[in-house]
Amino acid sequence: MSKIKKSLILYQTMTGNTEKVAFRFKQVFEKKGWGCDIIKVGKDMDVDNLPFDFQDYDFLCAGSGVYAALPGKELVDIIFKTTHRTRRAGKIVHVHQKIKPGPKKGVVFVTYAGTHLGPKEAEPALSLLDLNIEHLRFRCVGRFSCPGSLGKRPTPGQWFGDITGRPNKRDLVKAEIFLEEILEEPY
Ligand SMILES: Cc1cc2nc3c(=O)[nH]c(=O)nc-3n(C[C@H](O)[C@H](O)[C@H](O)COP(=O)(O)O)c2cc1C
Repeated sequence: MSKIKKSLILYQTMTGNTEKVAFRFKQVFEKKGWGCDIIKVGKDMDVDNLPFDFQDYDFLCAGSGVYAALPGKELVDIIFKTTHRTRRAGKIVHVHQKIKPGPKKGVVFVTYAGTHLGPKEAEPALSLLDLNIEHLRFRCVGRFSCPGSLGKRPTPGQWFGDITGRPNKRDLVKAEIFLEEILEEPY
């Protein structure tokens, strides 16, 4: 019998928008017969004693809200420190080595307001997360983004118009299709 494949969804959120996408991804993995752990990164997470091991997973999803153009600092730190340091003879040393990502795969996702410049505002955070997961050797095979509301009232003059209630049902259906199609690709 073949082993059940396992995925990890690691995400950071301040107001819950990114969490909606993360949980929709979890449903997709379960529908497709994967095991799935979902972990919210918080300020209290100890980078040197993470409650999980990236190596235990076949697929990684890393997601965040966009804050001042970037993903959450704690999420970035966790991955950066995991990939750039190792312990040798009791000492922490920096690792400088060429990396060839794969064969494991991963995706990155963000929610963002895009107030001034629209979709372009998701790009730096998506690129940084993409780079991060490739440092972990998961080949980044997709980037998902959708608007995420900033507060409960519409603010006139935003690039996307009214984004209250986003991610909405339609955004989450798009998230679902995005991941389904990636999981349906042959390995
Ligand atoms: C402190 C802060 C800074 C933000 N900076 C940006 C930004 O630079 N660009 C952007 O598009 N959205 C920005 N946003 C909007 C959030 O990215 C958006 O509301 C997102 O959906 C929040 O995700 P979360 O609910 O998972 O935290 C910011 C929001 C907050 C609270």
